[in-house]
Amino acid sequence: MSFKEKVSEIITVIHKRAPGFEPKIALVLGSGLDGLIDDIKVVAHIDYKDLPHFAMSSVQGHAGCLVLGYISDMPIMCFKGRIHFYEGGSFESIKLIVRTVKDMGCYSLILTNASGSLRKEVGAGEAGLITDHINLQLTNPLIGVNDDEYGGRFVTMNDAYDPGLNEIFRQTAKALKITLYDGVYMGLSGPCFETPAEIRAFRTLGADYVGMSTVPEVILARHCGLKVTALTAIVNIASGMSDVNPSHAETLAKAQISGEKLRRILKEFLSRI
Ligand code: HPA
Repeated sequence: MSFKEKVSEIITVIHKRAPGFEPKIALVLGSGLDGLIDDIKVVAHIDYKDLPHFAMSSVQGHAGCLVLGYISDMPIMCFKGRIHFYEGGSFESIKLIVRTVKDMGCYSLILTNASGSLRKEVGAGEAGLITDHINLQLTNPLIGVNDDEYGGRFVTMNDAYDPGLNEIFRQTAKALKITLYDGVYMGLSGPCFETPAEIRAFRTLGADYVGMSTVPEVILARHCGLKVTALTAIVNIASGMSDVNPSHAETLAKAQISGEKLRRILKEFLSRI
């Protein structure tokens, strides 16, 4: 079965559950960030287990469902939970998410994640706007036969994070008096956190944030021509830079604080675009 056919089966289920609903924007919620869509007027809520080909995420903080509805009158589809590369060494579920977004007719994908900060002045509880990435997962979701139905073989990655949408995010945050820190995200495979020596090395390579997601989604979204933006909830200062060790418990706790800032920014952003 081709990817198009798999996605078409998924979309048949979505259309049955939300007849006539046409999302324009898609959102992927990162660890501990379910609260970002507290304001949503729900049209349908579909567990991943009811979507053909979707696997469930095993990570705590990832509920595993698709929510369709409106935030600030904008029709959106929202993926609560993603499968990380470290969960099975495959990009199949991430591909399904991104290509379902594309074939549902969305023009933009907003990614969210939790990250560690490599800048001491940008601490846990802050909100970040990802403006570029460094792919240190050392693999690529597009390796293999190119799926011409979605895009070409060689994908341009300058301006992968849409400058126009980024600027609207900055203006929105400014209007709300919330500091939103621009930064470069380094995507790692995980699941272990970094060593202090790695963090020192990554700082010299130009990273501001580290995390274990997002990069494959961005690559796949650019491959099929979706506009991308990404927000990060800073949940800790990276390994070796403070007395507190990064942990998943810390991620979920601090994501509540950053997440509340991101929720307000996102709601206002969706009313502006
Ligand atoms: N490193 C990698 N991933 C993360 C971190 C971190 O410090 N914090 C949250 N996700």
